[in-house]
Amino acid sequence: MTTFTKLSDEDTPVISVHPNRRISKINPNIYAGFTEHMGRCIYGGIYDPGNSLSDEHGFRKDVLEALKDLDIPVIRYPGGNFCATYHWLDGVGPKDKRPARPELAWLGTETNQFGTDEFMKWCEALGTEPYLCFNFGTGTLDEALAWVEYCNGTGNTYYANLRRKNGREQPYNVKYWALGNETWGPWQVEQMTKEAYAHKAMQWAKALKLLDPSLILILCGQDGTASWDYFTLKQCLLPAHSALSTSSVPLIDMHSIHLYTSSSSHLPNATAPLAAERAIEITSSLIDLARVENGVPPTQPRPTICFDEWNVWDPIRAEGSKGAEESYTLSDALAVAIWLNVFVRKSRDVGMACIAQSVNVISPLMTSPTGITKQTTWWPLWLFSRFMRGWTVGAHVACGTYEGETSPVWLRGMDKDTPWLDVSATIGEDGFGNLVVVNIHDERSFETKVEGVTGEVAVFTVTGGHIAATNMKGSEEVSVQESAWHATGDYVFPKHSITLMRWKPEEMYDSL
Ligand code: AHR
Repeated sequence: MTTFTKLSDEDTPVISVHPNRRISKINPNIYAGFTEHMGRCIYGGIYDPGNSLSDEHGFRKDVLEALKDLDIPVIRYPGGNFCATYHWLDGVGPKDKRPARPELAWLGTETNQFGTDEFMKWCEALGTEPYLCFNFGTGTLDEALAWVEYCNGTGNTYYANLRRKNGREQPYNVKYWALGNETWGPWQVEQMTKEAYAHKAMQWAKALKLLDPSLILILCGQDGTASWDYFTLKQCLLPAHSALSTSSVPLIDMHSIHLYTSSSSHLPNATAPLAAERAIEITSSLIDLARVENGVPPTQPRPTICFDEWNVWDPIRAEGSKGAEESYTLSDALAVAIWLNVFVRKSRDVGMACIAQSVNVISPLMTSPTGITKQTTWWPLWLFSRFMRGWTVGAHVACGTYEGETSPVWLRGMDKDTPWLDVSATIGEDGFGNLVVVNIHDERSFETKVEGVTGEVAVFTVTGGHIAATNMKGSEEVSVQESAWHATGDYVFPKHSITLMRWKPEEMYDSL
């Protein structure tokens, strides 16, 4: 948690970190990824058989190596919008027997050469856990149950045996399953009303939990600020005994929300992720409200938020049906750092966050037939995933604020400031304190009093020559530099930069 005091732009900013005031545990799943059958994410991204850069399974080795460096705990698959017409059975078994089908989300052809078993094998190669999304469009409950049985079944049953026949003896033990994707959206095949969705989600959840009570089921919310979120939570967050009379297992474990931010102007672009922070706060209250209104006993675990699509994306600039290949700038890297600051600050509420997406499609990592490029947004993701784990700790910032237009417009009317310095802080399992400061100002560096950062400090700085700098023009204009600071005097946070400080706090610097 980071608290804030507004100063005038003439005052010297102050950042105070309290490394021993642990606020909440950070779920490592906030560094989750997402791979959809969309554009060049799967085909030509993670899977490229015949390319000399690929292994014997057709997996791009350079992509795997790069993603390993992000230490991604979970990856969502196979969509996204793609799910709404996807039949998983098309994508298993001998490859020459798999049907090619028209694909209605992105209007291409799905060859089904990459399917469930390939995805599971790829997850194992990467050292990550799968998170699957059910087809709530043209799919049936039977098909969903069969998919769970195929992935997780241990008995002598038809789909578990089909998995064995396809070469995989051991179950995959897939834990995370989404009850549809953006089923509220007009672009969705079989768009639903909130009433129809809530009814269907509960009926599916009941059957799925009867088949396997250990599944973690994720309700399809909207953006956390919609009546859809209120209604679906109210209908579906029930006391376990009333939802499934035979069991004490709750049907719904997490509530999913999605948000993409962007603006063609730098400061609205960089501050836009603060809308996600407000959305998390609102969703968290809606979860509590549903629990109160439905009389959910306090002993029943409180669902967390699954922010399973987030990123900077302008779908007009980088159209979905054209593969959504964004060319990210330094401004976007600052925005991504603020997105990640938000997830760290809100670690109490956020159980998972999946950057959308992991390769080529609105992604920090791009491929060509001959190699990979790390976009500007790669570097904040890499820094956070490497160091911002453990516990969120208390921090306070006092500085001036950006006062102009925001995107979305509603952000300005909220109980939310847009400070020049956006901050989060953690203490890791290794006992190191970590502080991230994002200076969004495109002209001013801020000489800042930094309290609570002591001793020898390793400093990582991500910046570039100008706010529009990009890594997509053949050279790495935005990257990370490491330096050292002795924690004496003020620290100057450079204009348009991300700074991560890392130090070993003095014993009991600050009592609880
Ligand atoms: O991530 C790209 C698309 O954005 C996803 O398929 C969809 O869920 C969202 O609208």
